Amino acid sequence: MTYIIGMVSQKGGVGKSTLARMMAREFVAGGLTTKIADLDTQQQTCTHWAGRRAEAGVTPELQVQSFATVKTALAEAPRFDALILDGKPNASDQTAEIAEAADLVVIPTGQTVDDLHPGVVLAHALRKKGVSSEKIAFAMFKTTGSERENAAARQYLTEAGYMVLDGDVGVSTAYGSASDAGKAITETSFRTLNQRASKLAQSMIDKMVELQERQVA
Ligand SMILES: Nc1ncnc2c1ncn2[C@@H]1O[C@H](COP(=O)(O)OP(=O)(O)OP(=O)(O)O)[C@@H](O)[C@H]1O
Ligand SMILES: [Mg+2]
Repeated sequence: MTYIIGMVSQKGGVGKSTLARMMAREFVAGGLTTKIADLDTQQQTCTHWAGRRAEAGVTPELQVQSFATVKTALAEAPRFDALILDGKPNASDQTAEIAEAADLVVIPTGQTVDDLHPGVVLAHALRKKGVSSEKIAFAMFKTTGSERENAAARQYLTEAGYMVLDGDVGVSTAYGSASDAGKAITETSFRTLNQRASKLAQSMIDKMVELQERQVA
């Protein structure tokens, strides 16, 4: 059985590609064969990043491939333990296809209502299309240090009927620098930042396992 995670959002620049790369790194470090399907054929963020990673000789080596359609990306699933679908923003058809195919649908979001609202609108739209709310999870991304703001954002999402993953990725230039160097956000030069990102990654893995166990039962 392959774990399929979909990273989606309506808004651009919320952290889909960063989280896709983080999860690929963590799956591979855990011994799972993994592929990122880069579905943003225009930007190819993950594909370019994989090039930087290979160039810099960062290990473990990660597999990224660009796909024009979700269908062709899914054809890869049987060959891997985990397939991560990195979607493009403002693409309602593609987003729905990713959400339908994925075991876990992750919507990254910032803490402000400007970010939270479009995330919830998207989640509602996916549910309307038949995607179970149980497999939709929000990931707090580019959070500020404010505990109060963080709690308010989590409450907003919970009240809207959605699950929020444990952990969050704070705003930090060190995450950006790591990414520039072909590293994942669990591979920065700072242990505390890596641990923080790891907590979010672990939460995604736990959720994924829980959902698959429920499917099997
Ligand atoms: N922790 C962080 N703090 C600050 N900036 C960050 C952090 N993580 C990532 N970024 C930056 O945020 C931007 C968006 O991140 P990312 O590419 O992961 O989002 P995305 O949702 O995939 O975007 P798009 O919708 O364009 O595909 C990038 O410029 C990235 O370098
Ligand atoms: Mg992206």
